[in-house]
Amino acid sequence: MTRRTPESLRSHRWFGVEDLRAFGHRSRTLQMGYGPEDFMGKPVVAIINTWSDAQPCHQHFRQRADEIKRGVWQAGGFPVELPALSLSESWVKPTTMLYRNLLALEVEELLRSHPIDGAVLMGGCDKTTPATIMGAISMNLPMIFMPAGPMMRAHYGGQILGSGSDVWKFWAEKEAGAITDQQWNDMEAGIARSHGTCMTMGTASTMTCIAEALGLTLPGATSIPAADAAHPRMAASCGRRIVDMIWEDLKPSDILTRQSVENALVVHNALAGSTNAMIHLVAMARRAGIEVKLTDFDDFAQKVPVIANLRPSGAWLMEDFHIAGGIRALMKRLEGLLHLEARTVTGKTLGETLEGAAVYNDDVIRPLDKPIAASGGTAILYGNLAPHGCVMKPPAAEPRLLSHTGPAIVFDTYDEMAKAVNDPDLDVTPDHVMVLRNAGPIGGPGMPEWGMLPLPKKLLREGVRDMLRISDARMSGTSYGACILHVSPEAHIGGPLAAVRNGDLITVDVPNRSIHLHLSDEEITERLELWKPPARDYPRGYYRLFAQHVRQAHEGCDFDFLEGAGGIPEPEIH
Ligand code: FES
Repeated sequence: MTRRTPESLRSHRWFGVEDLRAFGHRSRTLQMGYGPEDFMGKPVVAIINTWSDAQPCHQHFRQRADEIKRGVWQAGGFPVELPALSLSESWVKPTTMLYRNLLALEVEELLRSHPIDGAVLMGGCDKTTPATIMGAISMNLPMIFMPAGPMMRAHYGGQILGSGSDVWKFWAEKEAGAITDQQWNDMEAGIARSHGTCMTMGTASTMTCIAEALGLTLPGATSIPAADAAHPRMAASCGRRIVDMIWEDLKPSDILTRQSVENALVVHNALAGSTNAMIHLVAMARRAGIEVKLTDFDDFAQKVPVIANLRPSGAWLMEDFHIAGGIRALMKRLEGLLHLEARTVTGKTLGETLEGAAVYNDDVIRPLDKPIAASGGTAILYGNLAPHGCVMKPPAAEPRLLSHTGPAIVFDTYDEMAKAVNDPDLDVTPDHVMVLRNAGPIGGPGMPEWGMLPLPKKLLREGVRDMLRISDARMSGTSYGACILHVSPEAHIGGPLAAVRNGDLITVDVPNRSIHLHLSDEEITERLELWKPPARDYPRGYYRLFAQHVRQAHEGCDFDFLEGAGGIPEPEIH
């Protein structure tokens, strides 16, 4: 393998030449207390840090950035920490999805505008993973993704709890009057016990596992709990490895191929991963020039059994997954379905990185012939209500709802729906199909995670725990229920969801992958001609940029002007 020379480094243009500007770059580096021996001729490594006081899941990132720096120094590089948007899933409103593309844009431009030769991306809390990776793919410098790691198991009253999933479950019990305020308060104090990401197989762990399946993390990195001593050791290893990657000139374009994306599809299905991945993987792949269709998710779902017995679809949590062998063990079990020749950030093939991996608990990571579901957790439905598709997670729904016809009960806004479900006189039965619209990419804006519509209180008190729900929103990866999501095109731009009225019959037929509004095409067209877009005007600012450029759900919700990579000249240095 040819190694790069110091003169060929990107940072050489800033530091290595003899002109007035280089005088400025060097003197201002000396101003920080570094000597020439610290940075001259060395690869400059950006540490993209999504730490902030407003990001509970990344509270360990200040320390981890130091550990990455330790690795960079050890390997002969020069580390530069660059703070980026922290995008806390739990704090940011209306939804972090509104800002995923902003973080992606920020990462790309941080890398472009500074004297950076390669990057370690620090992320984990939901959107921070796809966003940092999308930006780095477009910049196409050597990079490693360092996952935040899952938090410790939660507990309450002697029971183990999982992030999100158990909260939704107990909230339904609280609404049904089955648990007290005191019990609810105890749960609040026990649900998040350490730094790190949600410890169910929600969006955070789904996306970090996908990053690993794509070959973008060190082997086994994604299942290491945030509070485990192995986590800072992994961080330091990222620092060491990125320096070598820069000398080797190993870039995302050398790693990401249709094969690596298919590996991610296999892993996503084996994990019964979050539906959000269907947006993020499409967007990440499109940055790399690789087309992923929604039907790919369904096709792989047919071939891949769900073998990770993890909540919300299964029983265990991420810490158990790690102890059972973690993501490497899972991929070892899936070897026959993976492209083992795919390259990874290690410089080795995926197959080589799986050598020696083993499963230590067959209930947590099931054998292929004893899965928790024989086919993956994804169904893509098409029909006159969703011409560009919509998604569902059948294992998370009550089986009776997988083939169901019922009358629609329609809500135009989240607030209208939230008020209605608390109304004891709401005219609703368990057979109704709840429809929430204007919650899509532009209508939300940002496709908030409203897709697990709360069930009407009066039905909860009658013991109903699932109903068919349809929206153009997303739902949390920790959510569950018969929720049909990402209806595309969205209602806000005149998709057929905008034509539905109370009482219209809707049929969902998951085995045949169809969703049908019982109206003629002419009737739908007539209604849409009378339809007026909801009043939502963003006269300026980021919301305006977002509304003008975001793509629909089936296309990954990236901005139209950000897709792809390269194409921008290196900044002039004058
Ligand atoms: Fe950060 Fe779930 S809230 S990962």
